[in-house]
Amino acid sequence: MVEISINTELPGPRAKEYMEAARRYEPRSMSDQVPVVWRRAWRCYVEDVDGNVFLDFSSGVLVANVGHSHPELVEEIRDQADKVINCYDFVNEYRPLLARKLVEITPPNLDKAFILSTGSETTEAAVKLARKYTGRKEVISFYGAFHGRTYGAMSLGGKRSGAATRGFGPFVPGFVQAPFPYCYRCPFGMEHPSCDLQCFKFFNYLVECATEGDIAAVITETYQGGAGSIIPPVDWMRKLEAWCRDNDVLLILDEVQASFGRTGKLFGFEHFGITPNLLCLGKGISSTLPVSALVGESRIMDVLSPGTLSSTHGGNAMGARAALKNIEIILRENLAENAARVGDYMLGRFLEMKERFETLGDVRFLGLAGALEMVKDKVSKEPAPELAKEVVNRAYRRGLLMIAPIGHYGNVLRIAPPLVIREEEAEAGCDIIQEVLREIS
Ligand SMILES: Cc1ncc(COP(=O)(O)O)c(C=O)c1O
Repeated sequence: MVEISINTELPGPRAKEYMEAARRYEPRSMSDQVPVVWRRAWRCYVEDVDGNVFLDFSSGVLVANVGHSHPELVEEIRDQADKVINCYDFVNEYRPLLARKLVEITPPNLDKAFILSTGSETTEAAVKLARKYTGRKEVISFYGAFHGRTYGAMSLGGKRSGAATRGFGPFVPGFVQAPFPYCYRCPFGMEHPSCDLQCFKFFNYLVECATEGDIAAVITETYQGGAGSIIPPVDWMRKLEAWCRDNDVLLILDEVQASFGRTGKLFGFEHFGITPNLLCLGKGISSTLPVSALVGESRIMDVLSPGTLSSTHGGNAMGARAALKNIEIILRENLAENAARVGDYMLGRFLEMKERFETLGDVRFLGLAGALEMVKDKVSKEPAPELAKEVVNRAYRRGLLMIAPIGHYGNVLRIAPPLVIREEEAEAGCDIIQEVLREIS
């Protein structure tokens, strides 16, 4: 049964009060979302403070992989709150078990796990480790990349003129960016596969001209999330992995959003047949509390001596216990498989819509990491950020909750429901988007 229920004008009277308080007392730095004030959430539904119920296509921001407030997770958190919550770097009953679990479910070369609390901490830690282990200073990341908002993580980001970086420079030195295979808008004006991976040829040229050849690591998201769910070709990823191996450069994969079933496999890199040396995890690792992890090879991890890296909340007992239970649920309930199945259904629906609507330029899906790229028309491909915003606003009025448009040009709708979503629920969401596209076309 689809549980959408809108009973007030939107936003409702109580939501308006909270929105006013937020406007008055909070900075405007956060992304500008539709005015849903969350009171309660379960599975793939969100109830606001006025009692309206929305179907959630956001999962927070790709966090609630097992669905909001999964009863078993809630019980673990509740029980642990009675015992101990935070004990800093002292060992607790769950942190080492979570580390062991992460080592067990990742490829054999990844044999140690460092538990932290945010995604940005993991990318920062990965770069620190890479520099310390290799004794080299340069790091290559990609145009369009997003690796977090702290200084190091932000400096890895791939759109300097974007709102998240403009005005915040100078950035950390030694970081170099290369073009990512954004095939819908190929920076070289070519098409895959006839391009013969021109972007990769350019990568080699860039290494020659823009680096000193003192490269510690290459870091990339498995698919670029913030840039608009851009999925690289498999052969590009494989070439990148081979290049790192051949040049003795560490490969860091940032799967803060691509892991724990989101892409239809437990880890996103499984789609590409590659293995990183360091793996950044977050978001869906707990589906709830702030937990993240850097999983890596002990030859790299072990260069750190006591006191070199830790974090106040990292590995706290409650978060570690929640993450352990979350992973158990993802595996037991076959949520990666469900993401693949429902993702396929949605991809089919949106591809049909793409045929019908001139403003739907591109549809990209990997499991339940989906994206719809809105354009003025298919020939010019001119980005249509205002149209994307209009879709989010109109969908909201019909009870479908989507995050504000993302993407290199702010014109991409992100489709990322919790992985427990059923096909009939996905269908209801697709129907709403279809209606909205018809209206605005
Ligand atoms: C790929 C990727 N890396 C890093 C981060 C940063 O994570 P956090 O906001 O938890 O610091 C994000 C967050 O959206 C992300 O998507």
